[in-house]
Amino acid sequence: MDKIVIEGGVPLSGAVAVSGSKNAALPIMMASVLTAEPVIIRNVPRLRDIATALTLLGHLGVHSRWLGDHTLELCAARIQSHEAPYELVKTMRASFFVLGPLLARTGRARVSTPGGCAIGARPVNLHIRGIRALGARVQLRHGYVEAHAERLAGARVWLDTPSVGATENIIMAATLARGRTALENAAREPEVQDLARMLNAMGAKISGAGNHVIEIEGVERLHGADHTIINDRIEAGTLMVAAAITGGDVLVRGANAEELKAAVAKLQESGVEVTPEGDGLRVRRTGAVRAVELRTLPYPGFPTDLQAQMMALLANAEGTSVITETIFENRFMHALELLRMGADIAMKGPTAVVRGVPRLCGAPVMATDLRASSSLVLAGLAAENTTEVQRVYHLDRGYEGLDSKLRSLGARIERVPDRGAS
Ligand code: EPZ
Repeated sequence: MDKIVIEGGVPLSGAVAVSGSKNAALPIMMASVLTAEPVIIRNVPRLRDIATALTLLGHLGVHSRWLGDHTLELCAARIQSHEAPYELVKTMRASFFVLGPLLARTGRARVSTPGGCAIGARPVNLHIRGIRALGARVQLRHGYVEAHAERLAGARVWLDTPSVGATENIIMAATLARGRTALENAAREPEVQDLARMLNAMGAKISGAGNHVIEIEGVERLHGADHTIINDRIEAGTLMVAAAITGGDVLVRGANAEELKAAVAKLQESGVEVTPEGDGLRVRRTGAVRAVELRTLPYPGFPTDLQAQMMALLANAEGTSVITETIFENRFMHALELLRMGADIAMKGPTAVVRGVPRLCGAPVMATDLRASSSLVLAGLAAENTTEVQRVYHLDRGYEGLDSKLRSLGARIERVPDRGAS
């Protein structure tokens, strides 16, 4: 187990390139199950979660090989298992997104429910309700979802909340259903839109991705495709906060201004300069960070996956910020560690009141989940003295070489074995 050691206080400068999107790559990899033909996926980030997804797909009989550093070939010529075991699903919730494709391709699926995680209960009721609406017989037994359907039938499906995963699972299931499916109150995230582009390249007939209603006209079968994943907007946002929190000047290459509109607006409101430059966004901060009100919302609102990073920035702001987390019920774990670095944060339910302090103090801190770990790294970049972030395997789930990317911008950051790790 490694830890990351940071000597804070260096304003970052230079240019850094964003990797492919983890949250686009994962459902798109699961979509390979929908066809017996090979699919090529480009711009795939090298992450722990990608490796976990490859292990799951291999268990199902999908052959995979890397054709280059970031290009994957997947081929589900024959499905040899219909089961996504608990051991795999519990380590990565996105494994549950194999339910829809597996059911649509083979007529049966036995997928472990993911269970909760550090940030919340993470139920899958909307996934199940959608699959049932498409005609599947679904039972919940021994912690597994067992689904059967000779052939799914298109239907009108309403999502109580615009769940990203439920939207993706249901879209994939509906691509091979008989007839038309209308998915209402669907998630609008760029990753959903990227999945729809990939599925349409495979011969699906999907329209409306990115809007509240997505329509899918079922087809008999899908074929192979060659698709390039969009860049990771959450990694881009994380790197932008790194520039802001250190008072630096960084070009984040591959950052998509449209996808990051809410985050850009909030950074600008807090006194950070963000301007389009070349193929990315240039981020500069010279003056003080100003306190803001922040509310996480489904896309295109402010992304919950950038909430922890913004809290680190606002911990050093002039004034008092109020952060409201509306997506997950327990996504302030990073605040407890920021408190140990001298932050002044009071939490009550979904709201955190962040009173800015002049500067945080370095300390040994513990990562609890993926985005919390990046928040602690960001705090360490600006804090005085040394910060040690333990359990960085959380970080490795969703960031491709974040420490080396930050080092390339001048950060004094090292990854070292954590001898004392429990
Ligand atoms: C996706 O998770 C992302 N993961 C998450 O990113 C992201 O935080 C989340 O969407 C919200 O944007 C991937 O894409 C792999 P949801 P997902 O279903 O699909 C409730 C990261 O850091 N809900 O949109 O699991 C749920 O409890 C990760 O990269 C139900 O009630 O999120 C939550 O409160 C973390 N019933 C809300 O909806 C359901 O059946 C949004 O969850 C499903 C969800």
